[in-house]
Amino acid sequence: MKRNANLNALKPSYLFPEVNMKRKQFQETHPEAQVISLGIGDTTEPLDPFIAEALAKAASELSTLAGYSGYGPEQGIKPLREAVAEKLYHGMIEADDVFISDGAKCDIGRLQVLFGKEISIAVQDPAYPVYVDGSLLQGVKKIDYLPCNPENDFFPELSEKSDLIYFCSPNNPTGAVATRQQLEKLVAFALKNRSIIIYDSAYASYIQDKNLPKSIYEIEGAKKVAIEISSFSKLAGFTGVRLGWTIVPKELLYEDATSIRADWNRITCTIFNGASNIAQKGALSVLQKEGLEAIQKTISFYLENAAIIKSALEQKGFEVYGGLNAPYLWVRTQDLSWNAFQKFLEKYHIVTTPGSGFGPSGEHFLRFTAFGKRSNILEAAKRLKN
Ligand code: MLT
Repeated sequence: MKRNANLNALKPSYLFPEVNMKRKQFQETHPEAQVISLGIGDTTEPLDPFIAEALAKAASELSTLAGYSGYGPEQGIKPLREAVAEKLYHGMIEADDVFISDGAKCDIGRLQVLFGKEISIAVQDPAYPVYVDGSLLQGVKKIDYLPCNPENDFFPELSEKSDLIYFCSPNNPTGAVATRQQLEKLVAFALKNRSIIIYDSAYASYIQDKNLPKSIYEIEGAKKVAIEISSFSKLAGFTGVRLGWTIVPKELLYEDATSIRADWNRITCTIFNGASNIAQKGALSVLQKEGLEAIQKTISFYLENAAIIKSALEQKGFEVYGGLNAPYLWVRTQDLSWNAFQKFLEKYHIVTTPGSGFGPSGEHFLRFTAFGKRSNILEAAKRLKN
């Protein structure tokens, strides 16, 4: 059996397991160190009882003849598709254009199946590694890295045409949030060049500034050029529960005017069997008034974490970006990213994520996550300040 040659294009290990391995190595030689992880962005706060009870009730219903359900619709249960369209998009999109999934990362992988390997893609640089790795796995060869840095306000220069443009706002890893004007520029570029934007809005709920757009569909014309991927992970603490969604508007067409949505539906029915019925019932409770209030409290809590770390780093003289309408801080370092990572680990016993792991323009930066228990965040801030 020969190895799938596309796998050769990948680095041997995905970024976060590599970070974990370095942490483990350090902990083995320093067993006394109380290491704090501000590396992977994983939620730490418990679910609100209102949401947990909805999940428990959904599980319990499965034990009754009347309440049992097996396979559900591959696209997700209708009330949840409707609730997403109404509560999160305020009617901007139609419920039957919402496809519920088991998470944004999984849908990014399946999107590559939709577009195949004979395409060119553009990614913000730095970027969430799955856009590039997922494309490489499909055999995509033409990848354009668009530098995003403090000098260009983290908005790339758009000049070369690409078939797909991956764009994430609020951005993982930089914490930058695109303004309305910037998104208008992006949509206009895609319309002119007949590109498709894959818009990742997994962190949209962290946008507190009312002037900043939470969805690409707030921009006129976007339905003709954009697919939006999003998630309940950071919205509602569902990183372990697993649930996300993708929006493929009916207006989005191939060059021969046939429907992209129809193909996405075909792929969804073919290599996905619908999201967990329990998780979907839990998500329904998230989108009720009580659930929405509960998640806003948790989001504010994580944003306070971001402010605490930002202030500690700034007091130490670091140049810090993000963290205002996003749960990530992006910090410039003199050292190369992996060296800076090692220094923070050895000096402060704090795990970060090296910026270069997100792409060449991430070199000389570290990413700090604001997801964490308050005691750990305060302790990390104390160590940084001292
Ligand atoms: C991150 O740390 O970048 C995210 O938690 C990873 C993910 O969402 O898959």
